[in-house]
Amino acid sequence: MDKRQETIDLLKEYNQEHIIKFLEKLNDEKAEQLIKQIQKIDLHQITELYNSTKKTVEFKESKIEALKYLDKAKLTKEQKEKFDRLGKKVVKNNQYAVVTMAGGQGTRLGHNGPKGTFKLDVYGKGKYLFEILVDNLKEANQKYGVTINWYIMTSKENNEETVKFLEKNNYFGYDKNYVKIFTQSELPIVDTNGKLMMGKDYKIKEASDGNGGTYSSLRRSGCLTDMKEKGIKWVFIGSVDNALLKMVDVTLLGMAISQGVQIASKSVVKANPHEKVGVFCKMNGHPKVIEYTELPENMAEETDSDGELKFGESHIMCNLYTIEAIEKISKEILMYHSAFKKNSYIDLDGKEIIPQEPNSYKFESFIFDAFEFFDDIAILRGKREDDFAPVKNKEGVDSPKTAKELYEKFWNREKKEN
Ligand code: UTP
Repeated sequence: MDKRQETIDLLKEYNQEHIIKFLEKLNDEKAEQLIKQIQKIDLHQITELYNSTKKTVEFKESKIEALKYLDKAKLTKEQKEKFDRLGKKVVKNNQYAVVTMAGGQGTRLGHNGPKGTFKLDVYGKGKYLFEILVDNLKEANQKYGVTINWYIMTSKENNEETVKFLEKNNYFGYDKNYVKIFTQSELPIVDTNGKLMMGKDYKIKEASDGNGGTYSSLRRSGCLTDMKEKGIKWVFIGSVDNALLKMVDVTLLGMAISQGVQIASKSVVKANPHEKVGVFCKMNGHPKVIEYTELPENMAEETDSDGELKFGESHIMCNLYTIEAIEKISKEILMYHSAFKKNSYIDLDGKEIIPQEPNSYKFESFIFDAFEFFDDIAILRGKREDDFAPVKNKEGVDSPKTAKELYEKFWNREKKEN
């Protein structure tokens, strides 16, 4: 059977007949491209993922416990010195690498371009989010006398624009030889009826498959091998959109080494018991981040003997791994979650529809779902005002306005102290 007929049969089998109609309208070249794309899509997996959007996750059988953490502000002088000494040694020996996850769509922010190219209006002149990250790395390089290897993950959708932007800005003065850009994998998005959506370019709309894709993409792209060849022992993975992210925290690193764990994470305490953030817990004996929607209300309010929230440590995408941990996770399959997002598409007449409200499901794996492959994790509680200024929404909470305020307050404090 020829490829075209094979593809048509496949589309019929999975109730995607509308794509056949598009196929019939296209010239040979475009049709061939579309057929090639469809052949690469696992329609069975997409159907299963769509069906899973109709089910709710239940934790009835699970045992949820609080997870131990250390508060950075409450470490003894000896503890702090010990952690810093252990951490510094690794960084100074050039055994520390940083990965930035910049493959997200940034749909909530609505910025026209990759999120790292968003300019935060700080100190009048403004700074791009990528520039803020570079500043943070340069500061660490100067402090520890090294140049840290920096790996940036993009998506197929934003790779070209990201590379162009960084080239044009000369990597904001970062030595290009120490920067590697790699691309994550994608999955098709579907509408509320589970139908594939067609893009303006007559390709089926696909989107990056979530930040959990970082691990396997590091391996697939050869970056993991590159790290091993360079003698990297610890890898930091963080987001592109936190203006106060500290990518080289030697206290966190030293704490992980001292506790003999393979993974570590910086948290900040929840603003209130019902803040809409994921928090750390132990589920069935393994570390996990549980979403606010999944944490029973009585547990969300529970406090310990110090009056602190038992489930109060929120995950801020500030994670650390041994190279062995990355290798291990990169070979595992993470679960997928669905996110309901706005995505434009074309109808059968070729007219572009730009939705005002979410209209489609994107399937994503989450970086923190990998924690459960381990028995333990070291958690260091940082401070919201020092560590967390996310740029997520156009307005309101976690918006450019709140991030600007937090960023300027932090740096004004730093300037005063030094
Ligand atoms: P978010 O989950 O907040 O997603 O990403 P987002 O794409 O930035 O924003 P929305 O939800 O569409 O509004 C947290 C971090 O993970 C990265 C993002 O770039 C950000 O640094 N990420 C997310 C990826 O690298 N790939 C993905 O597929 C998703």
